[in-house]
Amino acid sequence: MKSRYGYKVPEPDNDLVNVEPGSPMGELLRRYWQPACLSEEVGDLPYKIRILCEDLVLFRDGQGRVGCLDLHCAHRGTSLEYGRVEERGIRCCYHGWLYDTEGQCIEMACEQPEFTEKMDVWQPAYPTYEYGGLVFLYMGPPDAKPLFPMFDILDTRGRNDVVLKGLKLWGDHSLGYVRDCNWLQHVENALDPWHLIVLHEMISGDQFNSVLTLGSWPEIGFEETPLGMRYNLDKDLPNGNHLERHSEVILPNIVLVANIHQRGNEPIWREKATEVIWCVPNDNETVYGICICAWPAKDGIADSDWVAGTDTLTDIRPGQLRERPYEDKQRKPDDMEAQEGQRRIAVHAAENLGLVDAGIAANRRKLREAVRDVAEGRDPPNIFRHAETNRMIETSCWNTVTAAGESQAAD
Ligand code: FES
Ligand SMILES: [Fe+2]
Repeated sequence: MKSRYGYKVPEPDNDLVNVEPGSPMGELLRRYWQPACLSEEVGDLPYKIRILCEDLVLFRDGQGRVGCLDLHCAHRGTSLEYGRVEERGIRCCYHGWLYDTEGQCIEMACEQPEFTEKMDVWQPAYPTYEYGGLVFLYMGPPDAKPLFPMFDILDTRGRNDVVLKGLKLWGDHSLGYVRDCNWLQHVENALDPWHLIVLHEMISGDQFNSVLTLGSWPEIGFEETPLGMRYNLDKDLPNGNHLERHSEVILPNIVLVANIHQRGNEPIWREKATEVIWCVPNDNETVYGICICAWPAKDGIADSDWVAGTDTLTDIRPGQLRERPYEDKQRKPDDMEAQEGQRRIAVHAAENLGLVDAGIAANRRKLREAVRDVAEGRDPPNIFRHAETNRMIETSCWNTVTAAGESQAAD
């Protein structure tokens, strides 16, 4: 026996997991547009968020412009979540200072003109950008702001077969919800295909009702992609067909998941992921998932008969319920229990990574390199600055099904 007496849990891998301003990973994540909320959530009331350990308020002025300001009013600190959204900006509830979407204080309700003329007050602010039904923030150095990346899944210029929808799940569901663990645990789950077979089938029964978790053991490998890492899963299906499947992590905090409902009954060539999912830290101990879904269109609008490719969106498993009896969680743990169970912040120095964790280890190395890029003044990966190259950026996540007897398609 190795007694636990005196065992000290090592420190977390702070360079990779911490996201405060000034922390190595915090600086890396701030180099990318990060989704804050759905466009429809920014309405006639201010919308308060916590993102990357910062407290902010979003609002849409009467002219439709979205602003993102520091939460606490530059006068005497009252939270702007209680402010009033007006034609020209947001007015603090306490003494009526009015800020426009750039953060400039354009009215001081209680002050005399001789005072306000001399004042030049700016509430700290971030640039915003709306795309695909989401509001994005750029929280990094102003002179390093990149273009919004046009991944092929969400680049609808010249296409009319899909409409883009911003989506997340709240309330009782664990996915697309603030998860009570560090953001990297959520990302790494997408590079962990073995848990499909163990957690979602052997331990908890067939939670996906899918060929992913049924039939023979797959062959699994990992490889780098132009945007990050992916797993490669090959398996012979009970019906004799063959499945080739990939899920991809796009550095630093995007995951793509190929359709988990694919039954493998018919041959299909590169059924690509339909959602780009961002895993955004609220802070070091909570994360939310939010995505743009390329939803198939019927007669120009979203086809209501379509079931989204991942079960994060339209198809909730019982195990994803946030509140369920503790005994149920113990008897049929799901992703939430597994990821939150790694501690609020997983401790890498206490892990014993195996061969099955090769993708996770490689992704951590790539994240470390990206952190170093920023520290040494270079652009990290997946920063796009030129309109010519920022189109149909190729992602590498899909299912391919080949018929029994056919040779597998080469990648
Ligand atoms: S605290 Fe906001 S106007 Fe006074
Ligand atoms: Fe899972």
